[in-house]
Formats: sequence, structure tokens, C-alpha cells
Amino acid sequence: MNNPFKFGTIVEGNYFTDRTEELERIKEVLNSENHLILISPRRFGKSSLVKKAITNTGRTYISLNLQMVVSVENLASLILKEIFKQHKWEKIKHLLSHFRIVPTVSTTPMGDSFDVSFQPATDTTVLLEDALQLIEKLSNSENRMIVVFDEFQELLTLEKGIDKKLRSIIQNQTNINYIFLGSQESMMTEIFERKKSPFYHFGVLMHLDRIPYNDFYKYIVERLENENAETIAHSILETTRCHPYYTQQLSALVWDMLTYKHYDKDVVEQAIKSLVRIHDLDFERIWLNFNKTDRAILIDLVKNGQPSSNRLLPTSTIYSGIKRLMQNGYVIKLEGYEVEDPFFSKWISDRQ
Ligand SMILES: Nc1ncnc2c1ncn2[C@@H]1O[C@H](COP(=O)(O)OP(=O)(O)O)[C@@H](O)[C@H]1O
Ligand SMILES: [Mg+2]
Repeated sequence: MNNPFKFGTIVEGNYFTDRTEELERIKEVLNSENHLILISPRRFGKSSLVKKAITNTGRTYISLNLQMVVSVENLASLILKEIFKQHKWEKIKHLLSHFRIVPTVSTTPMGDSFDVSFQPATDTTVLLEDALQLIEKLSNSENRMIVVFDEFQELLTLEKGIDKKLRSIIQNQTNINYIFLGSQESMMTEIFERKKSPFYHFGVLMHLDRIPYNDFYKYIVERLENENAETIAHSILETTRCHPYYTQQLSALVWDMLTYKHYDKDVVEQAIKSLVRIHDLDFERIWLNFNKTDRAILIDLVKNGQPSSNRLLPTSTIYSGIKRLMQNGYVIKLEGYEVEDPFFSKWISDRQ
């Protein structure tokens, strides 16, 4: 029997739960000429949700992770590579001759992967514009392509003014739905909610929350097949606070321990201990890289559930520290501030 819990990659089918309202909402957006902006902390399920919503439409899409892109030219060639994966080279090569800077395309003998490069260009915007216009040409009102920009906030690091340029290309297209995903709340809000930003109110904004307790509880109980399943599911969710990734991670280990090692009542406690131990080296390395302020804030969050009970630090120092920790993903804010990783949180509290 296979482990019924999965973490780390996109989840589909039986591994996917809840999100019915979100799926409905995304479907509506994709059935319109509007674009979608989806924000949540890392590993809350953005990619999985969007993949499912798109698959339901049956339309073609390309997904571009801006975290892996280092320049505008690189982005343009990534777009072309993705297009070549979906369209027969023979059918689209004539379209490339319209490019103002014609790309050099090489392929493996089997034709299963492509490499794309450009002559050095002084104006990289034309590369991006031609690549995105190619998608527009390949789309039509019957089969509108969907383009997903993952970790979209990274765009701003590519080149000064790139947001303005990208926006001016996209705003004239009518055959594409764009989906902008981002896990840095403050930067995404800057991009889409600040009046002066080129992407101000550019699409339908959605925030993705954790998976609701009742749904996750049922999901876990059904898959554990254990007489104590209900108690176990409850203590898993108490630890992970319904964070999608950590819940699946802890549940997967609990399932292994129940199935192969015949643990009993204290299985969740043992699984948590084990995860904290496995990550000890990483946690220590991360901890040593924090300055004293960050450490004080994290200890406060773990012990008191809030960052500001430390009277030795000025409030402004605490909040700039919190901001920094949030940008780097160590702290997230939902109802209040909390340490993102429940096992790191446990590691910290064990050492207090
Ligand atoms: N709808 C869901 N049902 C169950 N688990 C989920 C769901 N969405 C996400 N997860 C869990 O969270 C992990 C991260 O999901 P992912 O879609 O990669 O998040 P993101 O794109 O926000 O970083 C998945 O590997 C899975 O363990
Ligand atoms: Mg993702």
C-alpha cells in the first residue's frame, strides 16, 4: 500500500482536498477576459490549485517560474521553450521569422528538448514582446492560452522598469488569461494594489488561506485507517495549524510509523520529534545566520505568540525585523504573526 499523503510537489487527484470555492472562482475568471492574481505564503497550495483549475478547463497553458529566471532575455527564451514543448516545430517555425531578433533554436536529435538563444540585444523588451505575441498568435477566442507567472514578485529584480514594459505588452492582448502567483505578500501587494504601480488592479485578486480544519481532519482520518485516527488527526492539525504542506508532511510520517513500525498512541509526538531531529542541522545553520533582533523576535513568537513583548527592543526595530523575517519566509501573517515552520518553532522552543 502506498503512503496516502504527499508533500513537496504539486498535488492532484486523491491527494488534493477542499478548495471548491476557490476552484469555482478561478473558473469564472478563466471564462472571462480577466487576469488572476493569487497570493499566499509559500507551500499553501497555489500551484496545485491553479494546475487543477486549468486542467478542468482543458485549455493549453504555460507556466513560468520567475524564481528561476535571471534576465529578461532568459525569460523570453523560457517562454519559447515552453511553446516548443506544446506545438510542433514545423507548424510554428514560420512565425519565428517575424521576430525582430531572430532566436537561434537548437534541439536534441530526438527533438524532445529545445535550447533557445538570442543575439546580444540592446533592447531586451523586443525579445519579451515578440515571445509573448507569439502566444497571442497561437491563441484564439476558442482556445485562449493561459500563462502562469509563478513567484511573480521576482520580476522586479530582472531589470528596472520591466513591470511597466510587461504591462504595456500584456494590456493589448485579448486571447490570453494571465495568472500571477506570488508568495511574498508585501511585494505582491505593492505590485497590484499600489496606485502608481503599472499593475495596479490588473486582475481579480485572491488570497489563499490554509485548508479548513474540518476538511483536513476528514481527509486525514479517512487515510489513516487506525482506531485512534480521530485523536491522531486532531493532534496533527494542532501542531501544523492546517498548513497544507506541513500537515501532509507530518501525516505522511505518522502513516509510515503506524504502518511499518507499529507505533501507538504517542505516534504524533514521536513523529514531530523525528522531524525536528532530521532538520536539526538546517535549523541550526539558519539560526546562526539570524541577528540578535531576529532571534529575539522568533523566541517571542514561539513563547508568547506575539513579537512585541520584548521590552528591550524599540517597536520600530521589532517591526523592521518582522518585515525582514516575513520577506525571507520564516514568519507568516494570517490572523497574527507566526513562525512559518511548526518544526522549526518546536526546535526553538526545545532550546529555551
Ligand atoms: N488542495 C490541497 N490538498 C491537500 N494538500 C495540499 C493541497 N494544496 C497543497 N497541498 C500540500 O501543500 C504542498 C505545497 O503545495 P504547492 O501547490 O506546491 O504550494 P505553493 O505553490 O503555494 O508553494 C503540496 O505538496 C501538498 O503537500
Ligand atoms: Mg508553487
